[in-house]
Amino acid sequence: MRHFGTTTAVVCLAAFGLPALAQTNEVEVMHWWTSGGEGAAVAVLKEDLEAKGTGWRDMAIAGGGGEAAMTALRARATAGDPPTAAQMLGFTVTEWAQEGLLGNLNEVAEAEGWDAVVPEAVQRFGKYDGNWVAAPVNMHRPHWVWANAKVFADNGLTAPTTWDEFFAAADKLQAAGIIPVAMGGQPWQEATAWEAVVLSISPELYQKAIIEADPEALASEGITQSFDIMRRIRGYVDDNFAGRDWNLATAMVIRGEAGMQIMGDWAKGEVIAANLTPGVDILCSVVPGTQGSFLFNTDFFAMFDVGEDKRQAQLNMASAAMSPSFQETFNLAKGSIPARTDVSPDKFDECGKKSMADLAEASAAGQLFGSLAHGHGQPPAIQRAYLDVVTQHFNSDMSSADATAALVAAVEAAK
Ligand code: GAL
Repeated sequence: MRHFGTTTAVVCLAAFGLPALAQTNEVEVMHWWTSGGEGAAVAVLKEDLEAKGTGWRDMAIAGGGGEAAMTALRARATAGDPPTAAQMLGFTVTEWAQEGLLGNLNEVAEAEGWDAVVPEAVQRFGKYDGNWVAAPVNMHRPHWVWANAKVFADNGLTAPTTWDEFFAAADKLQAAGIIPVAMGGQPWQEATAWEAVVLSISPELYQKAIIEADPEALASEGITQSFDIMRRIRGYVDDNFAGRDWNLATAMVIRGEAGMQIMGDWAKGEVIAANLTPGVDILCSVVPGTQGSFLFNTDFFAMFDVGEDKRQAQLNMASAAMSPSFQETFNLAKGSIPARTDVSPDKFDECGKKSMADLAEASAAGQLFGSLAHGHGQPPAIQRAYLDVVTQHFNSDMSSADATAALVAAVEAAK
C-alpha cells in the first residue's frame, strides 16, 4: 500500500511523463458521532489519519442511529456531490452499492488480508458482488442493560437475568424515588429495546420474525408477548422521555437519577468519557434472556466513487481504519469491539471482554444475528415498517394484539 503525499504523487506522475493528476490528500467524512463518547472516538480516527498525512474535513450530522445523517447523505448524493467517505450501517452499504455509487476497495483489502480477519457476518455487508466497498471499524452489541452500580448496591439489587428480576428491580427503584428505566423517545431507541425483547423470547423468533420477516412468525404469540413486555417497560419510564437523545438517557443513569438503560454499547463510550469505569461504576449485563445470543451492528466507512484524484486518500483512510492498532484504540473509546478477530482483548474492560467472548460463543452456536434497529436486520424500507409500528405502540395505548396485526400488515406492505 503506497502512501503518497500530494506533492510526491504529482512529482512521480510528472516524472513518468503522465498528465499530473493533483491528488487531494484529504477526506470529507460524513458521520453521526456527536455525543461525548462518539466524539472521543472520532477524534481517534481523525488524529490517526492526520498523523499518516491524510487531512480530515468533518461533516457531522447529529442524531443517534444515523437517520438524519442518511437523509443528508441522500441529498448530497442526489445533488451529485457525495462526501468522500460516509459512516453507514449494514444494509445501507448494500443499497448504495446497488446504485453503483461506491468505490472498490479490493486493492487495499487484498494487500492487507481483510478476508482472513473480518467475520463472515460482517463481510456480508462490507462486500457487494464479491468486492469490498466499505471498511468495517467495529462490532457494536445493542442489547445491553446499563445500571448504576451505587444505586443498585444501595437498593440491594444485582444485574437482572430474567424479566421477572428486571421488573422486581424496577419496582424497588420506583419505590425508592428513582426513575427505574431511562429511555429516549425516538423510534430507533424504542426498536433497540424491542428487538432485544424479541430475542429474549427466543432466538428462533428473532430469526424468523425479524431476519426472515416471516408473516406467520410476525403474527405469532411471541410477538404479542414482546409488545406486552414493551408496555410493562413503558410503565417504568419517566414522562419526559419523548424526543430525548440516547446519551441524555445514559447521563441519567450515570448521575444516578435513573437506575437502568437498555442501550447498545455506544453507551459505554459515554461512561468512559465521564471518567467512570464500565463494569465497576456502571454495570453491564445483557438484556434478560438474551445470554448466549449476540445481536450486532457494525459501523462501516463506505467510499463514494468521487474521482481518481481522491482515490489515494480514500485508500489511505480505508487502510488506516482497518489497522489492528487503530481498531484497538478506536474501539476502546467507542464502547464497541474490533471488527477484526485478531485484536487482543487485554486492554478492554470487563464489558468489552465479555462482548468478545460472547461473540465467539454465539457465532460458534449459530446465534449471531444482525440488529434490525441498527440496519443489519432488514433493508431500510422494511426496517422502517417495523420501527413505525414499534414506536406507535410504545407511544399510545395500542393493545399488543393490535400492534401485532399492524406489524404483520406494515411489513407485508413494505416488502
Ligand atoms: C448506531 C451506531 C453507533 C452509535 C449509535 C448511536 O447506529 O452504529 O456507532 O454511536 O448509533 O448514535
